[in-house]
Amino acid sequence: MISVKDFTREKVIYYIQKAENVEKLPKCSKTLINLFYEPSTRTSCSFHTAMLKLGGNIIEITDNSSAKKGESLEDTIKTVSNYGDIIVLRHPEKGAAERASKVAHVPVINAGDGNGEHPTQALLDIYTIYEEATKDLLKENITVTFIGDIKNSRTIHSLIHLLNLFDVTYIFISPPGLEIDTTGLNVLNATLEEALKITDVVYITRIQKERTSETYEPICLSKELLSSAYPDLIIMHPLPRQEELPPEIDDDPRAVYFKQVAYGVRMRMAILDELIRTMQ
Ligand code: NCD
Repeated sequence: MISVKDFTREKVIYYIQKAENVEKLPKCSKTLINLFYEPSTRTSCSFHTAMLKLGGNIIEITDNSSAKKGESLEDTIKTVSNYGDIIVLRHPEKGAAERASKVAHVPVINAGDGNGEHPTQALLDIYTIYEEATKDLLKENITVTFIGDIKNSRTIHSLIHLLNLFDVTYIFISPPGLEIDTTGLNVLNATLEEALKITDVVYITRIQKERTSETYEPICLSKELLSSAYPDLIIMHPLPRQEELPPEIDDDPRAVYFKQVAYGVRMRMAILDELIRTMQ
């Protein structure tokens, strides 16, 4: 699973339904290799937990000594392909997962390639929207407001691709300089206060400081801002958070970002099982 561009509406619905039924999945005896060139807590632990729940094994490669000795990504992938059945790769360069998939002898899952994509996060995000915001996602227009570093957030880039398969109106609120090209998207212009009154989903991210040399002032949510917001909206964040999402919001029933983490394990179980099926 390299890119969200390979997804159709039917495929997204298929994965959501599969994630809803992970308790019924059969056990496996496959080995997952977690190969992370960038730090990760949630994504790596989520895949790790998902594989353990499926009954499989896991090899974690975080302190990649060969990379430190100058080994190419291609050589590392050709090597670790011999140790397991599926590679989960996170890498700071855009396009790294695609490069890896060309030389790997086993399937590669893109767990984030620079400011490119993060397809499994996008699937768990749309699953969260389906469960927590509206099961009518599949039928009705919904409004999604993205707040923060829209330019460098791979989770936002990927989620937009999947949401485009449905009927979605977008509101984008970012510090100047962190916008994206929204040509072709159904966009509504609104201030933060206006957006919060009408949006079904708020998806906020941190400034991706590791991907920019400039300093930006984050746009922050607060209890006060949310007091006059739409009562049925949901607040999502891929985490980790910084000042844009203060912990004072955590006990608001609309805050679903820790539930999002739990949905992530279910979605990764569905993704791993799907890949394992194709190997048999
Ligand atoms: C995100 C990532 O790594 O792109 N985190 C995640 O995978 N849950 C978001 C981020 O780092 O800001």
